[in-house]
Amino acid sequence: MNQPRDNWSSSAGLVLAATGSAIGLGNLWKFPFITWQNNGGAFVLVYLICIVAVGLPIMMAELLIGRRSQKSAVGALKEAAGPWWGIVGGWGVLAGFILLSYYTVIAGWSLYYFAQSIGWSFGGYPAGMAAGDLFNEQVGNAGLQLMLSLGFSIATIAVVYFGVSKGIERIARIFLPILFGILLLLLVSALGMSGSGEALRFIFRANFGELETSGVLEALGHSFFTLSLGMGAMITYGSYISRKQSIVKASGAIVALDTLIALVATVIMFSVIFSVAGMSDQVSGSPVGMLFISLPELFYTAVPFGVVLGPLFYVLVALAALTSTISLLEVVSSYMIDERRVPRHKATILCGAAIFVFTIFAALSFTGTPFLATLEIFAGKIGWFSTVDHFVSNWMLPTGGFAITLAAGWFMTRNATERELLDGTEPRWFRYGAWRFFIRWVAPLAVGAIIVSVILGRDFS
Ligand code: PFF
Repeated sequence: MNQPRDNWSSSAGLVLAATGSAIGLGNLWKFPFITWQNNGGAFVLVYLICIVAVGLPIMMAELLIGRRSQKSAVGALKEAAGPWWGIVGGWGVLAGFILLSYYTVIAGWSLYYFAQSIGWSFGGYPAGMAAGDLFNEQVGNAGLQLMLSLGFSIATIAVVYFGVSKGIERIARIFLPILFGILLLLLVSALGMSGSGEALRFIFRANFGELETSGVLEALGHSFFTLSLGMGAMITYGSYISRKQSIVKASGAIVALDTLIALVATVIMFSVIFSVAGMSDQVSGSPVGMLFISLPELFYTAVPFGVVLGPLFYVLVALAALTSTISLLEVVSSYMIDERRVPRHKATILCGAAIFVFTIFAALSFTGTPFLATLEIFAGKIGWFSTVDHFVSNWMLPTGGFAITLAAGWFMTRNATERELLDGTEPRWFRYGAWRFFIRWVAPLAVGAIIVSVILGRDFS
């Protein structure tokens, strides 16, 4: 190999970078919304169970597969389970490619709302402006959409270009503490609002009568997306771990931080919504609605210190999205670097540019562009954006995740996985036997249930 392999500089570097990948639009945009849709309490509890029983074991499996081979998704899976498993890695690389192509578009919206909110903070929120109209105007403006997503793509490429320790890890080290700080400020402000008590009850008081089977499957499906599992991102990040770093501890920290942030974001949003009379009936019927339609106005009418916190909130969304997009680009670029021997700088630019071509399709899905706005492959999913989102969330991540559990639980030998997990770095509480049981039985059965329900027509996008 002509390029020496870059590594995380320390365990903290790995944890921050992987947590950055995990914390993203899924935490700030999707989790609060599905919690809303599924009536809170019981759904949140089931989600926590899915995170521990399915997410955590698969996180460990992905990191160990990566660390063992020191190769990115395709090479790592081949080495772990046999030559055919390269296909599963390739499936993950493709998922990363597609997911990045449309994730960037939503990330671009956060830049737009950041710029707008700075204007509102100084000039006042325009009286009588319907936030829904503003949203429709911006998504319908082709030039604006292309500029925003181009800006975001360039930022993503610029980070990955500098490599693992000097690019990805450095950005995570700077941005994650900022992100935690902003969330804390928002949380303090939200808890001071009159609706916070109702929000906490809604989120933490479980009433199983309100939970439907679809909610259980949704919680399970989301635990994959939010932890960046099922497509080799964590295999790739795992491949930059040195032998001295503990997989078990790192996995625990990543999963705990991701879950904490999702809950905090939900408490913040619901406290705001419950504080405004009648707002809870008006919350628009989509995640887009909550983040980009309901909240902007509320920052300027209801939230204490909203003029400061409004712009900060949209910076937060942008930072969280960026630390996720860089992991997606890393999955694709590292394939070119490791398997095709393309130098990193060239691989990053080539992959970034190729993905951007598809970002254009996603960005123009809302502008009335023929074909892109009207395509309907999956019933009810109209337009390019919804089609690819449906395909990735419903088909690619669950099937990829299922295959990874089989690779780690059934195709790798007990010896091989035991050597990775019981290497002297694991904490005292860790039981290898428990992990093996979850990865062989619980995780594949749970993920299998998602796949079966998708085949039967359920929708997780
Ligand atoms: N975990 C990210 C989120 O919650 O927004 C989404 C994601 C990023 C999924 C990177 C997969 C991935 F490889």
